[in-house]
Amino acid sequence: MKALNVIKELREGDLHTLNSIERGMKKHLYVPFSSLKVYSGYTEEDLEFYLNRLIDYELINLKRTAYKGYKLRFSGYDCLALNALIKADIIEGFGHKLGVGKEADVYDVLLSNSKERAAIKIHRVGRASFHHIKRYRTYISNRKHISKLYISRLAAQREYEAMNILYSGGLSVPKPIFQNRHSIVMSFMNGELLSNINYLDKPQKILNKIFDFIYLSFNNHDIIHSDLSEFNIMVTDDLEVIIFDFPQWISSDHPQYTFYLKRDIFNIANFFRRKFKVITELNNIYEKFEI
Ligand SMILES: Nc1ncnc2c1ncn2[C@@H]1O[C@H](COP(=O)(O)OP(=O)(O)O)[C@@H](O)[C@H]1O
Ligand SMILES: [Mg+2]
Repeated sequence: MKALNVIKELREGDLHTLNSIERGMKKHLYVPFSSLKVYSGYTEEDLEFYLNRLIDYELINLKRTAYKGYKLRFSGYDCLALNALIKADIIEGFGHKLGVGKEADVYDVLLSNSKERAAIKIHRVGRASFHHIKRYRTYISNRKHISKLYISRLAAQREYEAMNILYSGGLSVPKPIFQNRHSIVMSFMNGELLSNINYLDKPQKILNKIFDFIYLSFNNHDIIHSDLSEFNIMVTDDLEVIIFDFPQWISSDHPQYTFYLKRDIFNIANFFRRKFKVITELNNIYEKFEI
């Protein structure tokens, strides 16, 4: 991640300028130089100086149309989030990459207070394709323009919200620790991704734990994961399951909630049938869920 390499070199003025661009992006796709002067309070010379540094670090883009306009790149947004997490004494050290998904990067981090290992998930909605943004249409419909950064922040906020509800309810999700902009800090999951597991002693038991999770989060908390698959389930050494990756969760007041709930159940049942020869009578499960 570019931000990790440059964040130590950034000066207060760089961060203040990044902040000013972020503020401007609520109104503008590309923030005009004149607006940045107002937001930053800098003289033209100072502002020009910092903007040039940020361009050199590849944290922002400049577009020359009728006017000079600036916008944050993901790398610049990363710097703002990481800086906030460091300033708030949440994280200090960074380790290696834990996972690259389609729409998020996950890294090892060290928590400032406990010195425990944790994970930071940084959302990058629209990186793979702008097409995916459609998923978030329902809650961006009334914005004039939408940036990938803005949607990534919404995705992180939504994911954090679901994790908090489920974690407080005693369900097995990573412990949510802190959220800033498009990032979430959460407890580190030890274990093996279900998709990488080729043998299970008692697969039916694991499958039941997953169904229990789906049932409790739906029945007690009105939360439907809606992207559930073997890629979003961790199995620990003592055979507990941890469910993660929640940005696209829906609530059970969604008009098509039965479709998403059935799809989650089907995906898991189908995976266990293919890989572990466990047959599930889906109608029995649907009946229990009353769907
Ligand atoms: N809390 C965590 N602890 C350890 N590894 C994690 C954690 N969260 C995510 N990962 C790793 O990062 C990968 C991608 O995370 P995920 O939340 O599924 O995002 P994506 O939207 O990219 O699929 C996971 O498959 C997993 O390997
Ligand atoms: Mg995932």
